[in-house]
Amino acid sequence: MPHTKRRPTKAIFPVAGLGTRFLPATKSIPKEIMTLIDRPLIQYAIDEAREAGIEEFIFVTSRGKSALEDYFDEAPHLKAELEHKGKDDLLKVLEKTNMASGAIAYIRQTQPKGLGHAVWCARRLLGDEPFAVILPDDIIQAETGCLKQMVEAYEGIGGNMVAAMEVPPSKASAYGILDVAEDMGRVVSVKAMVEKPAPGTQPSNLAVIGRYILAPAVMDALDGASTGAGGEIQLTDAIAAQIGSGGVYGYRFDGQRYDCGSKAGFLQATIAFGLERPDLRDELAAFLSEIVPARDAAE
Ligand code: G1P
Repeated sequence: MPHTKRRPTKAIFPVAGLGTRFLPATKSIPKEIMTLIDRPLIQYAIDEAREAGIEEFIFVTSRGKSALEDYFDEAPHLKAELEHKGKDDLLKVLEKTNMASGAIAYIRQTQPKGLGHAVWCARRLLGDEPFAVILPDDIIQAETGCLKQMVEAYEGIGGNMVAAMEVPPSKASAYGILDVAEDMGRVVSVKAMVEKPAPGTQPSNLAVIGRYILAPAVMDALDGASTGAGGEIQLTDAIAAQIGSGGVYGYRFDGQRYDCGSKAGFLQATIAFGLERPDLRDELAAFLSEIVPARDAAE
């Protein structure tokens, strides 16, 4: 199957979730528009995808997500104003939010039936070629973007590839977990996958993180798929169905992952990214070194 080793050029971004963990903020703004320092979460995902060579961006959205469409649209008034004021630096920042006509597509998931179902909603926009899936909640701080690392490994391996990371055993039930056939270091081959295993039943502590490179056969497996963990159609199950045919590999990426679907994870990411920014790091570090000991002393 030579086509399975081609680099993916299309990526699916499932962004239909209600974001209830961030209510009331998400009552009127999509979670993906919430800002990590000064960029919406979705911009990090797009930047990572572009770095990996993705050219077409497919958003699986739902009601109430129109702010996402506006975000990636041209903003002529804003542009004219910035040009008039000679704010070239800000014009450059805005450039990253632009999408060429036809490079971005929005598809609605009309019922919340799970991640597998969300990905399946994009099936008609994909050809017979591998595609990427990026979950924007998973923010990965890395020198080389996680998806780019995976694309490079995928070109030599093919099949289906998921980002993987060791998690504490007590947290395994929150993830898709890999049952490893062969551990080759950075890459592992997978003999089974289980979505959200009951506590204590996980086959390993190697969890799936939200970056995938998948063969088109995964869409076939999602056609008429039955529900899995949590009563939802699970992407993990459709990938697991490829183990005997195309093969499934986990890729231990280089980088730090933050779960921006949780408040604590979002805060951690904000601090970690802030400490990397030349314009913020000194002030933030000074503040942290003051506030943390003060809090410890008060306890
Ligand atoms: C999803 C996937 C799960 C994966 C996780 C990574 O779960 O279903 O396999 O481990 O993302 O963030 P969710 O977090 O949407 O429940």
